[in-house]
Formats: sequence, C-alpha cells, structure tokens
Amino acid sequence: MTSKQAFDIPSCPGRRFAGCSAIVTGAARGIGRAIALRIGAEGGAVAVVAGSDRAGAEAVAAEIEAGGSRASVHTVDVTDRVQIERLFDEVAAAFGGIDVLINNAGLGRPARLLDLDETAWDDVFRVNAKGVFLASVAVARHMAAQGRGGAIVNIAGASAHRCYPGAGAYGPSKAAVVSLTRQMALEWADLGIRVNGVSPGPIRSIDGWEAREPALAEEVLRLPLKRAGTPEEVAAAVCHLASKEATYTTGQMLVVDGGGVETWYLSLGG
Ligand SMILES: NC(=O)c1ccc[n+]([C@@H]2O[C@H](COP(=O)([O-])OP(=O)(O)OC[C@H]3O[C@@H](n4cnc5c(N)ncnc54)[C@H](OP(=O)(O)O)[C@@H]3O)[C@@H](O)[C@H]2O)c1
Repeated sequence: MTSKQAFDIPSCPGRRFAGCSAIVTGAARGIGRAIALRIGAEGGAVAVVAGSDRAGAEAVAAEIEAGGSRASVHTVDVTDRVQIERLFDEVAAAFGGIDVLINNAGLGRPARLLDLDETAWDDVFRVNAKGVFLASVAVARHMAAQGRGGAIVNIAGASAHRCYPGAGAYGPSKAAVVSLTRQMALEWADLGIRVNGVSPGPIRSIDGWEAREPALAEEVLRLPLKRAGTPEEVAAAVCHLASKEATYTTGQMLVVDGGGVETWYLSLGG
C-alpha cells in the first residue's frame, strides 16, 4: 500500500470519522472520555475501553449512541496480550475492521526516585509502555490484514519532554511512548499505518480542582497560557492526528501543554 492510498476514507467537515471505527483505551473518564465522545460526534463507531470502570464506559457509550453513532463497551487490562487480542478481534468483527487506535490508558505512581519502589516502577512501565506496545501490535496486524491502513495516536505527556521532581517512573515511561511512537511510524509506514502522539500538560476537568491541588494551581499560572487545559482540548489535537486531515504526518508528537515545554522556569525545586 502506498501512503497515498492509506486511510483513504472520504472526509466531510465535522464528520471526519464517518465510516471509520476506533478503539479508545482508558475511555471511561477524563481525556479518554473526551476523545471517545469527539470521535463519536464526528461519525465514528467507537469501542469504549475501560480498565475497571464499566459504568463510566457505559455512560460514555450511551452518550455516543444518543448522538447517532455506534459504540460498544469493553473492560480490558491493557497489559494482558490475550485480553487485548480478544478485544480487537471482537471489535473488528462487530465494526467491520479497525481504522483508529487511541492508546490513552495510563498510570502514575508519583515518588522521588530514592523512594520509588520496584513494584511501582514495574506497574507504571507495564501500563504506559508495554500496554501501548501490545495494543499497537495487535491493531497493526488487523490493519495490515484489512489492507486499508489506519492511524494510531499514543497519549504520552509533557513529562516525557521535561522532568518534574517526584514524577517517579512516569516521565521515563512516557519518554518510552515517544520513542515507541517513532519506531512504529518508521516500521509501519509501508502498511499505510500512521503513528503519532499527543503529550498533554496539566489537564483538569472538574471545577474547583485548584483548591485540592494548590501546588499545581500555582504552577499553571507560570505557564505561558496561565491555566490548565481541558480534556476536550487534548481530544481536538488527537482527532486531528487520527483523521484524514493529517495524512502526511507520522512519527510526530504534538505537545498540548499551554506552552510549558518551551519554558525553563517551572521547576518546583527539589
Ligand atoms: N490529566 C493530565 O493532566 C495528564 C497529563 C499528561 C498526560 N496524561 C495522560 O493522559 C491519559 C489520560 O489521563 P487522564 O488524567 O484523563 O486519566 P486518568 O484519570 O489518569 O485515567 C487513566 C485511565 O487509564 C485506565 N487504565 C489504567 N490502567 C489500566 C490498565 N491496566 N488497563 C486498562 N486501562 C487502564 C483507567 O481505567 P479505569 O479507570 O477504567 O480502570 C483510566 O480510565 C493517561 O495516559 C495519562 O498518563 C494526563
């Protein structure tokens, strides 16, 4: 398949995913929820994948279906290859293939490195790095067999591009996601599969979060854009990269962080 043929699905303004099917992991809440809703609102059939929050995933799927698109609900551990492969087989059979995968599920275990225990390190890398690897390989095999290409978007984080004291294994695991994104883009371009990533900065959706997280509230005021971002702002970047609008973009990270990565003065010490 040439890159010109890849993911050659007609686009309509505001309906960029009409005729497509997508899998979104970690979709029961937060950023994953916003991505799933946006793809559904733009005509895509969405497999809403939760780790454990089935009720949250069912609510997201109901909202997508109320808007007129198809949705299915799944509960899967992204670190389990057998569960992932079974899920993708089910979704491909139900939706007639898989065009888009959004690897959004993630885990943080904040700690300074000298206090970080080995189990926390392994847990974080298992979800953030191995989970992305397993799901991406599983979907790439489907996309290759389908012969119509596809798009993968990995959610990394600003921590992949700059260091935060006390981030523990989180930043290193997200840096692995950046490298994996480039590696997959290189190896799978000939299959018509584009692989990109989005690195969010501080994203908050619940009103009044500043009172519960005063250190972060102080930090965001030092960002060039002086506020936290919203899940919908991350979803907009993800959907651009996943859609036909971005057919000449692969192996790239889009940092959605209020300009934080461009600054040097955010470090909170220690
Ligand atoms: N929010 C931010 O400020 C921010 C900033 C930078 C990057 N990010 C990244 O953006 C993504 C979404 O973050 P968020 O804050 O919206 O969500 P979040 O509250 O961190 O939730 C992450 C999701 O991942 C799922 N998950 C965790 N372990 C899993 C596993 N083993 N198998 C399947 N699913 C699993 C959870 O599912 P269940 O709840 O169903 O178990 C949950 O819905 C993550 O990758 C995160 O690292 C977030």
